[in-house]
Amino acid sequence: MKISVIGCGYLGAVHAAAMAKLGHDVIGVDTDPLKVERLSRGEAPFFEPGLPELLREGVASGRLRFTTEIADAGDARVHFLAVGTPQMADSDAADLRFVDAAVASLVPVIPDDAVVVGKSTVPVGTAASIAERIRAAGSGAEVAWNPEFLREGFAVADTLTPDRIVYGVPDGGRAVEVLDEVYAGPLATGIPRLVTDYATAELVKTAANAFLATKISFINAMAEIAEVVGADVTQLADAIGHDARIGRRFLNAGIGFGGGCLPKDIRAFSARAEELGRAESVAFLREVDAINLRRRERVVELATQVLGGSVYRKRIVVLGLTFKPDSDDVRDSPGLDIAARLHGLGALVAATDPQGIENARVRHPQLPYEADLDAALSDADLVILTTEWAEYRGLDPEHVGELVAGPTIIDGRNVLDPEAWRSAGFEYVGLGR
Ligand code: UDX
Repeated sequence: MKISVIGCGYLGAVHAAAMAKLGHDVIGVDTDPLKVERLSRGEAPFFEPGLPELLREGVASGRLRFTTEIADAGDARVHFLAVGTPQMADSDAADLRFVDAAVASLVPVIPDDAVVVGKSTVPVGTAASIAERIRAAGSGAEVAWNPEFLREGFAVADTLTPDRIVYGVPDGGRAVEVLDEVYAGPLATGIPRLVTDYATAELVKTAANAFLATKISFINAMAEIAEVVGADVTQLADAIGHDARIGRRFLNAGIGFGGGCLPKDIRAFSARAEELGRAESVAFLREVDAINLRRRERVVELATQVLGGSVYRKRIVVLGLTFKPDSDDVRDSPGLDIAARLHGLGALVAATDPQGIENARVRHPQLPYEADLDAALSDADLVILTTEWAEYRGLDPEHVGELVAGPTIIDGRNVLDPEAWRSAGFEYVGLGR
């Protein structure tokens, strides 16, 4: 089937490559000519394990092309909307300008039997309003909402082997049949598929992210209590996680969540609930956000404490600037925020990351970056682990001990073995441990 994917960022580029892998004839559309040029060469414009291979394979097969011209996508039967829905600059609401622009450009070029399939995370009510706009423009194209649950770092696997597939569709339309045809084969075999109305499909995505964010902030709230009473939040998480109703995943306390999804999605949900006159229903999400942001402040407090009352002119290595490992994404990254706060307080920061320095530099050009790990660690008064990259989890405490000036480490992700670091002479500080 001929398919277009509008918006080739973290979501769209992976989706386009995955659809080509399924055997479809795919055209990816993006307004950024540089991105289109790189993707057309089969190069990933960002770091995502497995994506370069998938792109190269798709481009080489001739089934995957990219363009800046929406008109090139006019003859596709299905159009996936995969543009970003960032937070507004001046409020918590989602900025829908890219969705609006994509729909506006699409309507004049598509035939009446086309299906426009939203994948972006949007405020509930968006699909219905897009369907209304398309109808008002005199087009017979149908709208469906098919949320995407991919995680960065696992995007390829999550797209090709999803946990579930959700279609939000209008009554009596053709979208279900068309989407079944798109996903037919191993991707959909044995996978739960739920067909809902628009609002439910939109809410599935919003609710899933709100739940995950709440789970993380719950365990971080327990970390705050554990710190006061001397309990260990990692053991607490292990113990409650054995209850299958709770589950151990997403119970890792530390410096909290970041990224391009969870933080802005819970804020957009609060803003949308307020518009709907139901602010109180999700008032707890404000608390979830506040707990999350307190974790960053807590690390700065701990750094100040262990350095004897001030970070001023102290050498602090920040290990990890991306919001999670196996990604180069620094959007709303707690590690980068902590590095910037410490720098703002006069600390001599050495910020390092295996993949994120280039993107971090765009956001915080004033920060001192050091790509070489040993050079970053040299003469440090304090080491702070902020992203649990494999190379940081696997650091040899003896080796680090030889490089640093002061053997103190704050483990912002609770992933290191406290005993190993203590026996190498380090003061080990976990979060809620
Ligand atoms: C998230 C959702 O998981 C995904 O389903 C959705 O499609 C997009 O948003 P992603 O942003 O890629 O995916 O990252 P995720 O793995 O969910 O991690 C989000 C943040 O939470 C990271 O900063 C991570 O470090 C943090 N986190 C995660 C914790 O602090 N503790 C945990 O236990 C788990």
